[in-house]
Formats: sequence, C-alpha cells, structure tokens
Amino acid sequence: MALFPRARSTVGLDIGSGFIKAVVIGHGSGSPVIEKIAIAPVADDAIVEGEVMDPRLVANAVRDLLGASQIKARDVVVAVGGRDVIIKKIQMDRMKEAEAREVIRWEADQHVPFDPENVELDFQILDPEGDGLQMQVLLVAAKRELVESKLALLAEIGLDARVIDVEAFALHNAFERNYPEAMKGIVALANIGHETTIVNLLEDGVPVLTRDLPVGVRRLREDLQRERGMAADAADRIVRGGDLDPSLAPHVATRGEEMALGIERAAAFLQTSSRSGGLTRVYLTGGGSRVPGLASVLADRLKVQVTQAHPVERIDAAPEAFAGYAIDDVAPLLMLPVGLALRAAA
Ligand SMILES: Nc1ncnc2c1ncn2[C@@H]1O[C@H](COP(=O)(O)OP(=O)(O)OP(=O)(O)O)[C@@H](O)[C@H]1O
Ligand SMILES: [Mg+2]
Repeated sequence: MALFPRARSTVGLDIGSGFIKAVVIGHGSGSPVIEKIAIAPVADDAIVEGEVMDPRLVANAVRDLLGASQIKARDVVVAVGGRDVIIKKIQMDRMKEAEAREVIRWEADQHVPFDPENVELDFQILDPEGDGLQMQVLLVAAKRELVESKLALLAEIGLDARVIDVEAFALHNAFERNYPEAMKGIVALANIGHETTIVNLLEDGVPVLTRDLPVGVRRLREDLQRERGMAADAADRIVRGGDLDPSLAPHVATRGEEMALGIERAAAFLQTSSRSGGLTRVYLTGGGSRVPGLASVLADRLKVQVTQAHPVERIDAAPEAFAGYAIDDVAPLLMLPVGLALRAAA
C-alpha cells in the first residue's frame, strides 16, 4: 500500500533531428513541477527533413534514454510538425460523429490553408459524453503518413501516444506560462532547432501565425564543413563553443540573416492585418539560441530586443530534475517538450 498517492505526471517526448528530449512534469501539487529531464543526441542523418530515415536506430536511442533515466511511463505526449501538418482544437456545435464528418470540411476551410485535394482530414470528438451545446473537436489536417509513422515509431519503442500535439502549440503553451510579460503587442518566439526554425507570432498573447523556416544549426555545421573543410565533430564543437570563433562568424551572419528574413516576412504579413503596430521583441529557444553571436545578428537586423528564453523561468523544477546536466545549456532546448508535458495527466 502506498502511504502517499503518487503525483500524476506527464511525459513529454520531443524527438528532434538533433536531440531527443524527454521531460516529466508532475501535476499533483496544483502548479506543475518539472521532475525529470533527459536528453540524448540523435545519430547524424537518422532524421532528415523531419523524416525518420532509420526508425529502429531512433527507437533504440529513445528506449535507451528513457531506460537510463528511469522514465517508466508507457503513455507519452508527442508532437508532429512541419509545413505538412496542422492539428487544431476547435469548438463546434454538438452533433453526432457522422454529421460532424459532413461539415468538418467546411470547418477545416477556416483553419487549414492547404489545398483540400492533397490533405487528409480527420477529427476526434474530445468530449463525446458531454451534453453542452458545443463540443471540443481535435481537427487534424496532415499528410496521414506523418502521423502514422510517428505512432509506428512509438509502438516500436513500446510507447503509446496519449496526445499528439502540434509543435508550435506545445512551444506556445510553455512560452505563455514562462513569459506572461510577452503577452502584449506583437512578439515572436523563434525556436531554432537542428534543421528547422519554428516562428510563432503572438498578438496580445494570441498565437496568430506560425511559420517553419527550413534553416537551423545543422546549416552552420555544414557551412564549416564545406567552407573550412572541417570534420562534423570539430564543426559541432565550434558551433557549441560558447565564444564566437572567427571561422564561424560569417556563417552566423548569413544564416542569421536568413532567419531574420523569415521572421520579418511573417511579421510583415501580420502587420497588414493588425492594429498592434510592429514586432517589438523576439524570444529565442532551441539549440540555436545558444549559438554564439546569433542573437545579436537577429537583433541588429530586426532592430528589436532579442532575448534568450527557457522553460524554467516560471515553472518550478525539483532540485534533482537537472542532475547531470548543465541547466543553462539544456534548458533552452526544452521549451517544446515542457509544453508537451504541461498537458496534465487525465
Ligand atoms: N550549447 C549549444 N550551443 C550551440 N548550439 C547548440 C548547443 N546545444 C545544442 N546546439 C545545437 O542545437 C541543435 C539542437 O537543438 P534542438 O534540440 O533545439 O534541435 P532539434 O529539436 O533536435 O532539431 P529540430 O527541431 O530542427 O528537429 C543541434 O544542431 C546542436 O548542435
Ligand atoms: Mg526541435
């Protein structure tokens, strides 16, 4: 018999192209507490352009990481992302599933900017037993292979998806909780990953626009390999060096320019439809937020303040949660999986 009931917890699992990240958040005590984190690198080219090239290799890496970290949950929260997916929770009039299937295309038209011919639409009524006039529906517009391959990967690890979230929403969830002061005017959150930079634009706290830019830290490593003839691991050391190496500086300038342009375009698009003025501030997360010199390239180009953000600004962590990790190095990489784990256990 347990003397104390175990706090309910959620495991957020983010299988990035550079690093696998797992975060356990306890929801037992009212406000969420980060109980454990685990991070491991993904083998080079095991995940390319969001596609898992070698599912067994990635499955083994995840299984090893969870095992070594003694994360035993079978149900995890994961996310899909990229330009080929939109997953959105909507409210619509309560009706039977068969009827909903008739009107879901019309509902989706308002939410999904894809060619309806080339998209698989699906939905799930989240509260089928409810009796309110409105029902919560999870609307999914995606290349169906994307969701299926994610589930197959989890099955190979021996895991189930309790929720399949969308990356940009998970980032927003964690960001909103940690930076309430950012919920005014137009701000951007840019999560610079290994391959992809996810840009969320917020207007008075509402995530109004999301863009995936196909540029990340991997490009910097490749720049050094191609232009300087460096081996991958030597290039990685320079990219993660802490100080801006002279051989890296011009590439940071070029790639930073690309990212700035993406953010600028998204903000310009928004400005035409908004009365809140221009972009006022950019928050950076992801491994790329640690690249020396990148934040200042973005600040110079965008002419706004650029702040490095992380998910433990206002979320508590248990004292041992980051044991074995350098918190400053890893916390910025954890915004997304923290957002996943914030979903309270059902
Ligand atoms: N301290 C650091 N300084 C600079 N770069 C870092 C640092 N730590 C990690 N990186 C780089 O950041 C990337 C990993 O960041 P992150 O975990 O956010 O990406 P990911 O989620 O794996 O990628 P993606 O989301 O694009 O699939 C790698 O390219 C890594 O080299
Ligand atoms: Mg990522």
